[in-house]
Amino acid sequence: MKKLLSLISLAAAAVLFAVTVFTACSGGGETPSSAASPSDETASVTSSETTSAQSEASSEASSEAMSDPSSEPSSEASSETESKPESKPESKPESKPASSEAGSSDPTPSSEPAPTGDYASVAGYVAENDARYNAYGKKHKDLSDERVVAIVNFGYDGEFYTNVLPSPNKQTKYVLVNKFYYLDRDYVPDDLVALPSAYKHASNVSLQREAYDAFIILCDAAKKAGYTILGQSGYRSYETQEKLYNKYLKNEGGNVAAVDSYSARPGHSEHQTGLAIDVVGETGSMGKYGKSKSYKWAVENVWKYGFIIHYTTANEYITGYETEEWHFRFVGKEAAAEIHSRGITVDEYLAEQINKLSS
Ligand code: DAL
Ligand code: ZN
Repeated sequence: MKKLLSLISLAAAAVLFAVTVFTACSGGGETPSSAASPSDETASVTSSETTSAQSEASSEASSEAMSDPSSEPSSEASSETESKPESKPESKPESKPASSEAGSSDPTPSSEPAPTGDYASVAGYVAENDARYNAYGKKHKDLSDERVVAIVNFGYDGEFYTNVLPSPNKQTKYVLVNKFYYLDRDYVPDDLVALPSAYKHASNVSLQREAYDAFIILCDAAKKAGYTILGQSGYRSYETQEKLYNKYLKNEGGNVAAVDSYSARPGHSEHQTGLAIDVVGETGSMGKYGKSKSYKWAVENVWKYGFIIHYTTANEYITGYETEEWHFRFVGKEAAAEIHSRGITVDEYLAEQINKLSS
């Protein structure tokens, strides 16, 4: 009898041990319903959810323990993630006309005038930029004369990360952050709010208040239409971006060009604005989002809620990033509708706002 009792307690201890190990490995209470793609670049976040986004925001860098982006994620639930496209650079999709911000499957709603090369008759023409207009127009034959003139005037024809300028329109939904404009190390958006559990696929996802409100409405609309959109990574501090970028650099053996194709350098990430969010759909994977039903719906609809799918293959010439179907940038309904209907990039629209808002 004594023997039987000790056998039973041994078995119970073994079961308890197995359950403890499983819970720890699956990321605790924030375990997503489906496994993340191996292509998702995932960092463990150990902090538990709190109600204060600001305190989460300030603690997220320290709670982060990043893993190898090319290896299996150590935790499926994370707020500090990046994802590489499913396809490697050598198998990139054929380049599409540089027209629509909303992605390759989105028909361009605008009828952009055919280019003539007659830049001098375009409003905003600057004689000293003439050679640059011609050079850019030759390289991007599908762009209208108007867009060529604007893009060159904004300086987007220059090399990425050279002659960078401080981001204009900080603390507004028109803040411009890309490979030409940067945010300081100490820039933190006002009014960060943490997403509730039902709207996220990670333990710690925050957005600036207006973007947060719009994201909730977007997720609800997607759900009503039968699709899933959940936040995976929202606000990221300068320090978090720095850690991510450096980790990728290490993983890529110091190949800066490779990392620059999918990760922003610190200070140059839209995630630092609190207005950008990486999402997952039914698959629970950022890397697989582009192939999901949710993405198809998103391409047609996110602009109605004030978001734009910023990094598309068609826009790589301006953004400098490979397609990221999962990266939504909030600009507000009015801006998103205009970006969508004109078929321009977020970067062009926001550059147009610089003079408007500062005058
Ligand atoms: N992956 C995007 C470009 C970022 O790092 O902000
Ligand atoms: Zn992103």
